[in-house]
Amino acid sequence: MKTQTKSQRLYLDYASTWPMRHEVWEAMSAELAQSFNPASSHGPGRQAHRSLELARAKIGKLLGCTRAGIYFTGGGTQSDNLAILGFARAHAGENPRIFVSEIEHKACIASAEQASAEQARVSEVPVDSSGTVNLGWLERKLASDPKAPTLVSIMWANNEIGTVQPMSEIVDIAHTNNAIVHTDAVQALSKVKVDIEQTPVDLLSATAHKLGGPVGIGILYCRPGIRLEPLSYGGGQERSMWPGTQNPLGAIGFTAALALALEGQREHVAHWEELRDHLESRVLSEISGARIHGHDARRRLPHIVSVGIPGCDSGAILVSLDLEGIAVSGGSACGSDSGLGSSVLDALGLDVKPPYATIRFSFGAETSRLDIDRAVDALARIAGRVHSLSV
Ligand SMILES: Cc1ncc(COP(=O)(O)O)c(C=O)c1O
Repeated sequence: MKTQTKSQRLYLDYASTWPMRHEVWEAMSAELAQSFNPASSHGPGRQAHRSLELARAKIGKLLGCTRAGIYFTGGGTQSDNLAILGFARAHAGENPRIFVSEIEHKACIASAEQASAEQARVSEVPVDSSGTVNLGWLERKLASDPKAPTLVSIMWANNEIGTVQPMSEIVDIAHTNNAIVHTDAVQALSKVKVDIEQTPVDLLSATAHKLGGPVGIGILYCRPGIRLEPLSYGGGQERSMWPGTQNPLGAIGFTAALALALEGQREHVAHWEELRDHLESRVLSEISGARIHGHDARRRLPHIVSVGIPGCDSGAILVSLDLEGIAVSGGSACGSDSGLGSSVLDALGLDVKPPYATIRFSFGAETSRLDIDRAVDALARIAGRVHSLSV
């Protein structure tokens, strides 16, 4: 496992973007000849079309679904928008309902807000202090109007605190009540088992750059037969669901990154769990008042740790870590009224007063125990300094 000396930069922000893996780069370079327009009828165009369709078939196989359900998009945000707004618009005039959890990514929350502005009935599913959705609440609400077209959109795993939702139970409850399920699997894919045959969600969003693939390519899985209204109009590519010139090289990169991530999943998860437990126990014992958000969740992602430090300002800590060459993230850029700085943390109902720092660490294949020790040493030192300046 590669380690880093003190003078080297230490990247612990893989949940923001997993920098493109060398093997993915190689797979894409080998296919540079496919940089043609797959809609062109000449030979190079037809070859690019074949590569795109091969990528679609491989992704379908890796996700446990048919290739006919895979639509290429420009990333996770676009897939989330297409799923939620596309559903609302396809059912406009039928009084549709949309349920999103309180801790969805902005891409889903903002899509649901737009759907609400377009007359869909939108409700937020509450979560407990670990970030797990309240299944009883959801079941009662779904049962109250089983005839209305209904979409339940709940992320498979949360990007800030790592809570993994009970997707199979959510799907069972939704399907029993005539609703369909969309899940944002952007962070869950390759960290927990995501198999559409086993957990039959109807719509699923994923993006390549969280897997070590290129930025700007994602997929939406849409179960054949589900009605979505496209959000843009053009030349009919992606069976008119996401028109515009397709990106075969990006699709090749997505496929290579997904295959590689799934191949290494078992080994990475075991390694990350060890790193996560080590980081958490050091933080809890060495930083006064520190807490781990979502710590008591039944299941959490292995590679994300969200640390809360009362009495400190997030910005001061992030800048100080960055000056030491350590790249982490503050959780979410979304504003909130409570001073927590995150609508996700607000939803957990944490009993804290500002200032309150939130630092998210996330690991990649190369992250080592020495890296974690370096990051915790720096965090403990900086938190002590920032805390004494704040009081
Ligand atoms: C859970 C989740 N959904 C959606 C997105 C957006 O994906 P993209 O950056 O590909 O638009 C992100 C990225 O931060 C994410 O973490």
